[in-house]
Amino acid sequence: MIRLDRVSKRFGEMEALRDVTLTVAPGEFVAIVGASGCGKSTLLRLVAGLLPATAGHVVLDGRPVTEPRADTAMVFQAATLLPWADVLRNVTFPLRLMRRAGRETEARARALLATAGLAGFEHRRPRELSGGMQQRVAICRALLQEPRVLLMDEPFGALDALTREEMSLELLRIWQGREMAVLFVTHSIPEAVLLADRVVVMSPRPGRVAEIIPVKLPRPRSFDQEGSAEFQAAAQRIRGLIYGERVRAA
Ligand SMILES: Nc1ncnc2c1ncn2[C@@H]1O[C@H](COP(=O)(O)OP(=O)(O)O)[C@@H](O)[C@H]1O
Ligand SMILES: [Mg+2]
Repeated sequence: MIRLDRVSKRFGEMEALRDVTLTVAPGEFVAIVGASGCGKSTLLRLVAGLLPATAGHVVLDGRPVTEPRADTAMVFQAATLLPWADVLRNVTFPLRLMRRAGRETEARARALLATAGLAGFEHRRPRELSGGMQQRVAICRALLQEPRVLLMDEPFGALDALTREEMSLELLRIWQGREMAVLFVTHSIPEAVLLADRVVVMSPRPGRVAEIIPVKLPRPRSFDQEGSAEFQAAAQRIRGLIYGERVRAA
C-alpha cells in the first residue's frame, strides 16, 4: 500500500536520504530506528506528503503522494494542539476541517479520550495539561480520523516510562481492531521490537536503510515477551546494526 522506490532527499548540500526502498502492506506495523540525523523524520514527512522527494517515488495505493491526504494522519514528537481550543475541539478539529465530522464524531472522540485516560478533561485547554496528556490528545486526534496510514514520529518521547508502556499497548489494541498501516519512529529498541512486524534500521550520512528485521513474536504482544529468545535476538541484532562496525563503515 505504501511504496518508497529509491527515494532520495536533499536539503541543499545535505543528503538526508539516499536510495530508500521500502514497502509497507495494508495493516502492517513498521518501526523505524536509527541514530539521530539519519533521516527518520524526513522519511515520514515524504510519506505524509509534507515534503517532495528529490529523486525516486513515494506511492500510496498506486498513486504518487504529492500532498497531504485525508486517509493519512501524523503524530509529531511534540503535541501540536490549538492553544485556544479545548481538548474535545482539538481532537475533532481535523474531521471538522475536512467536513467529515458527523453526528457520532463527538461520542467517538469522548470514547477515545476515555481510553487514553483523559475522561473529564474534555473541556480543558492544552496549557492546563501536562506534556504527556497533551501528547495523548494529539494521538487521539490522529486516531479519530481512522486513517489507513498512521505516521508517528517519536510519539511517546515526551511521556514518562509508565505512560509510555500503557500508550504502546493501547496503540496496539486500537491498531489490531482495524486495517491501519503504521510507520512508527522511535529511539527505543525494545519499543520497536515490542510493537512492530518489521523494524527498519537506518544508518546515517546519508540516511539509508541498513537492514529490515522481521519480528516474529506472536500477537497480542505484551511486555512479558521481552524475556523471550526471539525478542532478545531481534533487539541484539538491531543494537549491533546501530552501534556496530557495519553501519559506521557504510
Ligand atoms: N528542512 C530542512 N532543511 C535542511 N536540512 C534538514 C531539514 N530537515 C532535515 N534536515 C537535515 O536532514 C538530516 C535528517 O534529518 P531528520 O530527518 O530530522 O533526521 P532524524 O529524524 O532521523 O533525526 C539532518 O542532517 C537534518 O539536519
Ligand atoms: Mg526526527
